[in-house]
Amino acid sequence: MHDFVKISSKDDPNKFCILPQHFVDNYLERVKNMEVFDDDIWVVTFPKCGTTWSQEMSWMIGNNLDYKKSTEVLLDERFPFLEAGGLADKIPMDTFEICENMPRPRYIKSHLPLFLLPDQLWTVKPKIIYVARNPKDTAVSWYYHHHNLHGYQGTKADFMEAFVKDLVLYSPMNQHVIDFWNIRYEQNVLFLFFEEMKRNLSQEVKKVMKFMEKDYTQEEIDILCVHLSFDSIKNNKMVNKEVDIKNWMQMTGREYNPEDFTFIRKGKVGGYKKELTEEENDMFDEYIKKAEFEIEYQF
Ligand code: A3P
Repeated sequence: MHDFVKISSKDDPNKFCILPQHFVDNYLERVKNMEVFDDDIWVVTFPKCGTTWSQEMSWMIGNNLDYKKSTEVLLDERFPFLEAGGLADKIPMDTFEICENMPRPRYIKSHLPLFLLPDQLWTVKPKIIYVARNPKDTAVSWYYHHHNLHGYQGTKADFMEAFVKDLVLYSPMNQHVIDFWNIRYEQNVLFLFFEEMKRNLSQEVKKVMKFMEKDYTQEEIDILCVHLSFDSIKNNKMVNKEVDIKNWMQMTGREYNPEDFTFIRKGKVGGYKKELTEEENDMFDEYIKKAEFEIEYQF
């Protein structure tokens, strides 16, 4: 696996994040000091909370429902992942530079916790969409991501234990969510839930439209919801990460067969019920309780 380190916040020693040393050496300072523009659109999440889904949603809404471009250009190019190049030295792209030099308005994805994001986000105040998901489904999805893409050798049980001990990449999840929950009423922040997107996508699309100051007809919204449905995202090669995964597997000397696994995996609420043991489930209840904040996750 990676050479992980615990990065502590300078302002609050109780806050930390688990990231690779490569990030510290090559991205940490640059990201912190990044120039931010008021017309940027940021999607920030703890991994596996519906990042890709909400990226496609907000990109479409911000780009006048440009289906042509969305089916011709990879989401990763339209909406690059800020710190991706800092996650593994095998990634040859400087994703920070890619984001920095994007034509405006820039669409930027990040999984960084609030305290590691650019300082200018809090003064320039561009639009930030934050998406949360219940930690049980998130952890299961993160486990399969590690197992399938990063050659994670441990068992699922090992991973779940590491998750609740805040030892996995981008941990701790609790603090990640709390920090954005606490600023959810800021005008430039929109806080969404994966489970609400599952329950009523059209309602969440309308929230994002309002946030992005865009107006579409009900018919256009209905068509967009089809474009954003699980099956459609799963089969959309510009969004489903097949190309990125193929490249990643090649870079790490492995073969990729989409039959073995797909990034857009199950897309369920409550999928954890078939994946976690009773003890693991209890362990997660304790973990969530420890956060002591009033979010009521849907399971
Ligand atoms: P599962 O692994 O539980 O299936 P991220 O983009 O943050 O990495 O999140 C990936 C998760 O979002 C995966 O969860 C994936 O299946 C789910 N997802 C992506 N698009 C979706 C959609 N249109 N509907 C439901 N789930 C979706």
